[in-house]
Formats: sequence, structure tokens, C-alpha cells
Amino acid sequence: MSIVSSSKEFPILAQARAQGIDLGALPHHVAIIMDGNGRWAKRKGLARLLGHREGYMTLKKVIRAASDLGIKYLTVYAFSAENWRRPEDEVAGIMKLIEKATREELQNMHKNNVRINVAGRIEEVPAGLRDALLHGIETTAANTGITFTLAVNYGGRAEIVDAVKAIVTSGVPADQIDESTISNHLYNAAQPEPDLMVRTAGEMRWSNFLIWQSAYCELHVTNVTWPEFTEVDFLEAVKVFQQRTRKFGTVVDQPQ
Ligand code: IPE
Ligand code: IPE
Ligand code: MG
Repeated sequence: MSIVSSSKEFPILAQARAQGIDLGALPHHVAIIMDGNGRWAKRKGLARLLGHREGYMTLKKVIRAASDLGIKYLTVYAFSAENWRRPEDEVAGIMKLIEKATREELQNMHKNNVRINVAGRIEEVPAGLRDALLHGIETTAANTGITFTLAVNYGGRAEIVDAVKAIVTSGVPADQIDESTISNHLYNAAQPEPDLMVRTAGEMRWSNFLIWQSAYCELHVTNVTWPEFTEVDFLEAVKVFQQRTRKFGTVVDQPQ
């Protein structure tokens, strides 16, 4: 009688090892500024919305890759609080796309043990999208795999303003406020801060994403636009992260 192993390894794990990644030292929380959808579309002579649609295809692959790799938290910037300044039809198209994507992917993510979460002023987005997001959060609340946070109508400064309002409302005396008071009132206070932030399409800026939480986050900017971004690019970002020396203000080899 032969014993056949039933535990099949995810292909991304072998790929990660082949790329030189240490699977025991993965970032805990990866944040991604998914940029360049418009430029990708323009280069192809397509409407910007088709760039966003293609970006959705990339996101599906990246969630799967991060989840199979064993990363615990993935937060992606889908729509900023400043993106309302875009043409009305683009804004409406993005809102519809996020709603459709959330509904379409729910069962698949649930099956893969993904926990869905949001960051941003969700109360201000169209009702259909808000309902889809809340339904996703509720359905996957007990899942124990990767926590996938969609930042929608998210602004880092707005988040800090919301935290300050909550602190004032709670009546904490001013002399008892410290950094942890602010951290504990952010949208996803229970999550570890991102240790790796990836931005696609080459811009060297934060664009108001997780500005408090990313104080000591490692940044990786790639020129690849988001619709072209692949699992290999994701693994490359993880590899670059593992080559960095994180010091948090100390000196390397400092005696403890
Ligand atoms: C990112 O792609 C998606 C959103 C901001 C919603 P962009 O639409 O910003 O793409 P570019 O920067 O114009 O190329
Ligand atoms: C940041 O990208 C927001 C998202 C990716 C959702 P933007 O394209 O809006 O950033 P800026 O305008 O180039 O700074
Ligand atoms: Mg952009």
C-alpha cells in the first residue's frame, strides 16, 4: 500500500524560493498603491475605465499570491478621498467596478479563507457599493486567512481627523494622549502597521495613503503599471524588502 501525500503546495511557494525569498521572513502587512491604470489604457489607445478593469484582474492575482504565500495582511488603495476630483463618469465607473468586483469575488475569497475589510469613509460611497462591502465583511468575518483591506474613499489625513474626533468625543484628558492613543483610534487599529508599501507606475509619493502607519514602512516603487503587474513583480517587492536593513532609528549591531 502506498501512502500518497495529500498536502499539495501552492505553486507560488516554489516560485518564491526560486526567486531567493525567505518564506520565514515575509512582511506581515503589505500595502499597495495600485497606480497607472490610466497610463496603461492611454498607451493602448483605450478608455481609462478599461485600465481600471484590467487593474481589477491584477488585483485578483495579487490577492491570491499574497494569500498563498502566507502574508497575513494586504491593504490596497482602490479610491482615494481626493479621487472624487476626477471626471464624474470616471468616478461613477470606478464605484460600479468596485461594487461588481466585490460581489463577483466574494464566494471565491470566502472559500479561500480571506477576511474582507475596508478603510475609508464608507458612509460617503454610493449605497450599492457600501452594501456590497458590508456584506463581504459580514460574510467573511470569521475567516482566519489573509485580511484583505480595500481602501475606498480613504485619505490618511481624513483618517487622522476621524481619530482625533473620536479621541475628543471619548473625553481623554489632553495630558494622557500619546502616540498609541492616535494609533488605537485609526480605522484598523488592531492590524500591525504595514512593513512594506509597494507603488506601481513610478511615482515617488504616498498620495495620502496610510501616512501615520507607514512612518517606518519600507517603500518599493516599480515603473510597471498596475494592469501589467504580475505575481513575479509582487515576489520581487518581497525580495527587495528582505534585502533592506530596518533600523527604526537605531544603529546596526547596537548592543541591546
Ligand atoms: C490608479 O490608476 C487607480 C485610481 C487612482 C483609482 P490611475 O487612474 O491613477 O492611473 P494614472 O495615474 O492616471 O496612470
Ligand atoms: C493614488 O493614486 C490613489 C489610488 C491609487 C487609488 P493617484 O493616481 O490618485 O495619485 P496622484 O494623484 O498621482 O498623487
Ligand atoms: Mg494615478
